[in-house]
Parts: sequence; structure tokens; C-alpha cells
Amino acid sequence: MWAVLLVLVGLLSVVLLLGRRRRREGEPQLIQGWVPYIGKALDFGLDSNAFLKKNQEKYGDVFTVYIAGKYMTFIMDPLLFPSIMKYGRQLDFHDFVNQVAPVTFGYPPVSSFPDMDHQIQRSFRLLQGDNLLALTESMMGNLQAVFRQDFLGDAGGEAAGEGWSTGGLYDFCSSLMFEATFLTLYGSPDHACRHSDMAALRHHFTKFDNMFPLLVAGIPIWLLGRTKATREKLIRYFLPQRMLGWSNTSLFITMRSRVFEQNDMLSDTDKGAHHFAILWASVGNTVPASFWALYYLINQQEALQAIRQELHRVLQHPESQDPWEPEVMISKDQLEQLVYMESAINESLRLSSASMNIRVAQQDFTLQLDKQHAVAVRRGDFIALYPQMMHMDPEIFTEPQVYKYDRFIEDGREKTDFFKRGQKLKFYRMPFGSGSSICPGRFFAINEIKQFLCLLLIYLDMEMEEGQEEAQLDNSRAGLGILLPTKDVRFRYRLRRPTS
Ligand code: HEM
Ligand SMILES: *[C@@H]1O[C@H](CO)[C@@H](O)[C@H](O)[C@H]1NC(C)=O
Ligand SMILES: *[C@@H]1O[C@H](CO)[C@@H](O)[C@H](O)[C@H]1NC(C)=O
Repeated sequence: MWAVLLVLVGLLSVVLLLGRRRRREGEPQLIQGWVPYIGKALDFGLDSNAFLKKNQEKYGDVFTVYIAGKYMTFIMDPLLFPSIMKYGRQLDFHDFVNQVAPVTFGYPPVSSFPDMDHQIQRSFRLLQGDNLLALTESMMGNLQAVFRQDFLGDAGGEAAGEGWSTGGLYDFCSSLMFEATFLTLYGSPDHACRHSDMAALRHHFTKFDNMFPLLVAGIPIWLLGRTKATREKLIRYFLPQRMLGWSNTSLFITMRSRVFEQNDMLSDTDKGAHHFAILWASVGNTVPASFWALYYLINQQEALQAIRQELHRVLQHPESQDPWEPEVMISKDQLEQLVYMESAINESLRLSSASMNIRVAQQDFTLQLDKQHAVAVRRGDFIALYPQMMHMDPEIFTEPQVYKYDRFIEDGREKTDFFKRGQKLKFYRMPFGSGSSICPGRFFAINEIKQFLCLLLIYLDMEMEEGQEEAQLDNSRAGLGILLPTKDVRFRYRLRRPTS
């Protein structure tokens, strides 16, 4: 599918006679393949790590690759990352978002509304600092409401019986985290705690999400079957007149709605598309991230026990929760004390994240990498960091393929010394991007994954079902965030008994 579509677009470009370029003095090695537009996109898409590694061996730590119509200069040495972050003005991240997000989510380019762009940036603060408290409290309530109704049989649902239940682990994580995150950000319908059509929304979301890498690669949506219709359904979900009927909406979304309302150039559909983009940003990575966090723990029961012990130590209550007791309360402070759990989450993110950090050169200039090295870049070129290579570097992380839940702990506290060629790294873990483009939702994301794990560890015993293959990373969204598993794995769970 990937390949066929890219070839199609490649052929289109031949017709349009898009040119190729020549390497100039002072520029990095140029690798462009012979196919117009596509360039090396196929090689990259098949196995990005192997592709980058091969070129690094051949050309060194900096080289330019032509991928899907873009010249991308990769900086492979993590010791050089800090110098890239310093070029805030010449290397711009929002230029990239503004090129990609509008075509992907279907709203008009934000750069045509500079004022609104600025306010949208400001809205990101509402995911952090003092505002995180309200979000975190609301998330805990929503997570428990959904979990108790669907899995503990509150409100007359199917009660989890004495024995084991089984299910797909990805599906389990997705149904809980998708809905709880949705309720926390967008709110609930006026006269109910839950939206009635969440399963349908999630279904359409998944269909769209499968096409996401192709949209980002610049494949026109009309080549992608029913994707456009699916996207329209998703956008319609967020039309202003519908959202007016929701309550307990987060300040973050309320403020964004207000910004859109003030802009009479935006149609209702455009507003819906913006809200939909935030849905993607907030669950597109969090759902697979919670899957991997839980998957590794269930697979390694010693790790799971250690995390559970830490949790009970912090909460100061017995090793299991009577399901008919009132809700579990976990304060933000308590969440912060869960350092082993945090290390376990960070370790699963290290293993599963493949986000690329992209900056767009705003002018022709010379990028000073360190005292000895500089390269020339051209206006419009992409500068790309690919942290997954660093996450998997055996010089930085011993046995990088192995999950070690306490890899980021030393003497009971967070470990922050990681080295490359004997030098301490400033950046060694980058699932959330870096510098000016770092994910504004990262604190909320880590908190909600913690809350999710807390709840499950308190209420449930969980095991993998026998005779299953290990979950594999699906590389088709390499460069775009947390990778999904190639297929779901089956697990079983049962209520833990109160040890009174
Ligand atoms: C484990 C979960 C998450 C991961 C791994 C993740 C990762 C990322 C990454 C890699 C970026 C782009 C940074 C770059 O290219 O340098 C990003 C941007 C963004 N993320 Fe997250 N994210 C997560 C959860 C969330 C959540 C829960 C929210 C919102 C509630 C969120 C909101 C955003 C937004 C709004 C942007 C765009 C920022 C901008 O345009 O400047 N993310 N995220
Ligand atoms: C809204 O939030 C408050 C406080 O978190 C809660 O008590 C109330 O039940 C929520 N309302 C709805 C409709 O969910
Ligand atoms: C885990 O990662 C987050 C976000 O990158 C960071 O703030 C936190 O300090 C890390 N904690 C540990 C124990 O590694």
C-alpha cells in the first residue's frame, strides 16, 4: 500500500518535472536515489534504523537524504543535539507543523492567522504547571468511572467474577485510555457521565490513524480510499453546536474553543478539525504508550511486583483494594513519588518511541555543529534528529534491546548520567521531542499513564496468556511517535482479593 502510493506520487512528480539537486561546497553528503519525489522514502520506510545506520557508517554523523519531496539532513551524534537546539530562530519547528498538520487534519493553514497561531501556542500552557492539577484529578475520576463500570460491574454491568477474564491487551488499554482522556479534555454530555458513541468514535479514529503516516508523507487524501469520509465523521464530532452540550470540559479545550470563536474566518468545520487534531495528539501516542508500559510489566512479573510494592508504600494502604470500597484517591504529590513506576514508563517509551524531531531552515546558513564541524544548509531544508538511534545505542544504554524497569534509577532516585564517548549527554531520552518543539502534553501524559497503571495494579492480577509470541513493533509509523504493536496480544486478569 505504502509503496504503491508513493510510486504513484513519484510518477506524478515526474510529470510535474520536479527537479533534483546537486551537492554544493560545504554541504553534507547527499543521498537522493533515482526516483523523483520518493527518493529514499521506501528504504527509510522499510527499516529506518538500518537505513540510517548504513548511511552513518558510510558518510559519518551528518548527511542529507531526499525523502518524499524533502531534503532532510540527519544529525546522528547525540552529542551534537544541544547545538541544534540553540538555533531557535533559523531552525523553526512550527513551520513544519504548519506544513503538515493542515493537510493531515483538514484545517486551513494557521500561518494565515498569525494572531490565532500565537493564542494556540499559549493554550499549551494550560496542560502544565498549576493547570495540571485539575487535569490530573479529573483524569483519575474519569479513568475510575470507566474502569469500574466496564470491568468491575458498577452500574449493573457485567461484574468481574471470581475467576479470570481474558482480552486483547491493546484493545483493553485503548478502550480505557481513549475514553478517559477524551472525557478529561473535552468533557461529558450534559446529563450523563459518558458519551454513548465512544466505541464508534474510537473505531473511526483507528481507521484514520492507520492512514496517518501516508497523510503526513504528503499522499493526497483522495488517493486514500474512504479516509476523507472517515475524517469528516471525526471532525463532525467536534462541531461547536455539539460541544456546547458538553460539561466539565478542560480549561485547555474551553480556551481553544474561545479562540476559534473569535476568528470569523474559521468555519465550524475548521474549528472541529482543530479539536480533532488535539484528539489525535492526545491519544495517538498515549494509547500505544500505555500498552507498552503495561505489556512489559505483565511480561516481567518481578518488575510488576516491585512497582506494586512502591505504589502501596506511597499510598500507605494494604496490598489490594476492595472493589466495593470508595474510589482510590492518588494525589499529584503521590504520583510524583512513584519514581520506580516512572522509570518503568520511561524505559518502555525508550523502547517503543520512534519520533523524529524536525526543524525547517528559515534561510541559507552555516550550521555550526561543534568547534570543528559546520555544514551548509539551504532554506526550506529539514534538519532531523532521530532519537530512536540514540535510545538503542549500546554505548549509552547497556543491552539496549532489554527492558530494565529500573534503568533510570540509581540509589533510589532518578539516574541522569548517561555517556557517549566518555562525555555526559544532555539529551539521552527524547520520546517527547526536544527544545522548542517538545510535547506540551508530556507531564499530563506521564501522569495519566501512571494513574492507569496504579488503578490496574491495585485492582487486578494480570498475566499473559500462554503460548504467545512476543509483541513486535510495527515500523510503519517510524518517525511519527510511539509505535504500535504489529498485532494485539492476549492477557488475562482477575480481581485481586483484599488481604484483610
Ligand atoms: C506518551 C504520550 C505522548 C507522546 C510520546 C507525545 C509525543 C509528542 C511529540 C514527539 C511531539 C512533537 C515534538 C517534536 O516534533 O519535536 C508532540 C507534540 C505535541 N503533543 Fe504530544 N505526546 C504525547 C501525549 C500528548 C498529550 C496527552 C497531549 C495533550 C493533551 C499532547 C499534545 C501535544 C501537542 C498539542 C503537540 C504539538 C505541539 C506544537 O505544535 O508545538 N501530547 N508530542
Ligand atoms: C463534573 O466534575 C465534578 C468535579 O470533578 C463532578 O463532581 C461532577 O460529577 C462532574 N459532572 C459530570 C456531569 O460529569
Ligand atoms: C521520566 O521522563 C520524564 C519525561 O521525560 C522526566 O521528566 C522524568 O524525570 C523521568 N523520570 C525518570 C525516573 O526517569
